[in-house]
Amino acid sequence: MADLEADLLARIRTHGAVPRHIAIIMDGNGRWARERHMPRPFGHRSGMKTVRSVVEGCLEAGVEWLSLFAFSQENWQRPETEVSALMSLLEEFIAREADELKRQGVRVRVHGDVHRLNGPAAAAVDRIVSVTAGGTRLGLNLFISYGGRAELVRAAQLLARDVQAGRLTPDEITEDEFRARLFTADCPDPDLLIRTSGEQRLSNFLLWQVAYAELYISSVLWPDFGRPALYEAICDFQRRDRRFGRVTP
Ligand code: FPP
Repeated sequence: MADLEADLLARIRTHGAVPRHIAIIMDGNGRWARERHMPRPFGHRSGMKTVRSVVEGCLEAGVEWLSLFAFSQENWQRPETEVSALMSLLEEFIAREADELKRQGVRVRVHGDVHRLNGPAAAAVDRIVSVTAGGTRLGLNLFISYGGRAELVRAAQLLARDVQAGRLTPDEITEDEFRARLFTADCPDPDLLIRTSGEQRLSNFLLWQVAYAELYISSVLWPDFGRPALYEAICDFQRRDRRFGRVTP
């Protein structure tokens, strides 16, 4: 491990609370490729390698949950060649990583409108979820064909069905009941939301869940966002004063 990385990790371990759940909007693959006069899928391929190092970093630092925005509902509108390159990369990622993730105790879940995935990509998703089901060290949520508003609409539909079936009255609809119908029902809300490439937007990611997340915007493009950059973000998080709307005693 490089000196900088080891120093940052030591600092994280002595500085108290590590975020239990980190969510990341992985952005900047296209610009990274353009800077190298290469086609956009070249950037996505390099971004896939960054996913590996960030997973390792979370395991090292003791993060319990990692949520990655891998493909938005809007991304379906990209050129067909880019969409199919991303689908192939997803399959490749799963083929390469499933066994290693299992070995490392990572449990993968995939959330979003996965019915839109093509046959091989859908089969790969099923495979990684079942292969890694027993993992207990890190929960890795991959958001694919995902949109935050669509997730909220889905939760509302599930509640409406329960009311219609007499399982719930309208007055019993609470934040907890709503939360229980989100994809992330079984994990805590993200403590830290990272977005790479300098953009300062939520882009329809985890709209409910990031209500109290600390935001960290990194100017680094996703393919260059390695473990040191992740550790910098965690160190920055550890310096924040989280008040959740209250005052500091
Ligand atoms: C945003 O960069 C990134 C994406 C739309 C895709 C993210 C995919 C990966 C990191 C690789 C595959 C990951 C897995 C888990 C298999 P952009 O294309 O919007 O970049 P730009 O804003 O510079 O154009």
